[in-house]
Amino acid sequence: MLEPNRSAVYGAPLQAAYLDRKAAADVVALLGRCPAYRPTPLVPLPEQARSLGVAEIRVKDESARFALKSFKALGGMHAVLRLAMVLADVSADELLGERMRAAARKMVFACATDGNHGRSVACGAQLLGARAIVYVHHGVSAARVAAIAAYGAEIRTVQGSYDDSVRAVMADCTRNGWTLVSDMSWPGYVEVPRLVMQGYLAMAHEVLAALDAPPTHVFLQAGCGGLAAAVAGHLALVLGSGRPRIVIAEPARAACLFESNRQGRRLEIPPTEPTVMSMLECYEPSLAAWEVLERVADHFLLLAEDEAVAAMRALAFPQGEDAPLVAGESGAAGFAAARAACMRYRAALGITAESRLLVFNTEGATDPDLYRSLIGTGPA
Ligand SMILES: Cc1ncc(COP(=O)(O)O)c(C=O)c1O
Repeated sequence: MLEPNRSAVYGAPLQAAYLDRKAAADVVALLGRCPAYRPTPLVPLPEQARSLGVAEIRVKDESARFALKSFKALGGMHAVLRLAMVLADVSADELLGERMRAAARKMVFACATDGNHGRSVACGAQLLGARAIVYVHHGVSAARVAAIAAYGAEIRTVQGSYDDSVRAVMADCTRNGWTLVSDMSWPGYVEVPRLVMQGYLAMAHEVLAALDAPPTHVFLQAGCGGLAAAVAGHLALVLGSGRPRIVIAEPARAACLFESNRQGRRLEIPPTEPTVMSMLECYEPSLAAWEVLERVADHFLLLAEDEAVAAMRALAFPQGEDAPLVAGESGAAGFAAARAACMRYRAALGITAESRLLVFNTEGATDPDLYRSLIGTGPA
C-alpha cells in the first residue's frame, strides 16, 4: 500500500542546519579520523534496471561499512565521538590522543538496541577507551548479542520488548550518571538522537560525491525513521527543488510512520506479529526524525514479509552482469520498495524509463544463520 504525505507542513522549509552540506562534510572529516573509515561502494544494477523498466538502479552498499556490516556503524559512533569531545573538552585533532584516552576511561555510554545501534556505540566507546553498556531485549538473537560483546560492551538483558529495554537503560543512566546514546528521540530528548542521525549523513554525502546527476527517486527503509530523515533531509537541503522523490518504506507489521502520516500526527501503534525485517520493528517514530519526514517525505509505502525475502534473493542471485550483493532482511527492504514501486505504483510515483533509482542496502548478513535460513545459502 502506498500513501502520499498528508501532513499540513509537507513542503514547508526545513529548518535543520544539522543535516546540511557543511554538517555532512564535518561528519566525514571526523569519521575520517578513524583508521577504518572508507566510503562504501555505490553499486549499479543495470540488469535489474532493465527488467524493472527504469534507466538506473544504484545501491549504496552499507554491508561494507567499517567491520560492522551496517550503516548504523556511522550514527552511534558519531554521537559517541562528539559527546566524548564535549565531555573531555578536546578538539577533533585530539580525538585519538592521550588527553582523550585519559578522560574517556571515566566515561560510560549506554544504549538500548535491536542489534546494530548497540554495536556502533560499543565500537565508538572502544575506539576511545570508554565503557559501553548495551541493553538488549530477549528477542535479540544470540549472534547479534555476541557481535556487540565483541566490541567490549557489557550486555544487560531485559525481559520484554525493545521499549522495555529503552525504559531500563533510561532509568539506569539517570541513576548512575551514564550518557544515554539513543537513536530514538522523544520530547525533551532530541540532541543526542540528532547526533546519531547526523552520522548517517556520511552516506548521503558519499552518494552525491559519486554521482554525476542526482537520482530521481530514493527508497528509504525505516524503523524509528532516523536513517530516512537524515538522508531525505540532506537531499532536500542540498538539492532544493531538484531533489528526488522520497519514498519511506516500512514493514506492514510495524508501520508507525505510515500510520502517523495517516493520522496527521506522530503516534505509537500497538505491536502485532514480529516482522522478519527485525531492525525495522519499531512502533513509534523518533520525534527528531518525524519533524523532518513530515516536511520532506513524499510517500509512505508498506512492505509485506515475503517482499523483503524476495529482494534479498534478487540481490544475492542476480541476472546478467549485475554483481551479487549480501543484504540482510532489513537491508534489502529499500530495494524491495523500489521493486514494488516499479511493478505496482509507477504512475503514482512518476516512474518512467528515464528514472534513476537509489536504494540503500543498510545491512549485510549481520545474523549469518538467519540469512542462510531465509535464502538457502550462506553469505560467503
Ligand atoms: C539494518 C537497518 N536498516 C534500517 C534501519 C532503520 O533505521 P531507523 O531506525 O533510523 O529508521 C535500522 C535500524 O536499526 C537497521 O538496523
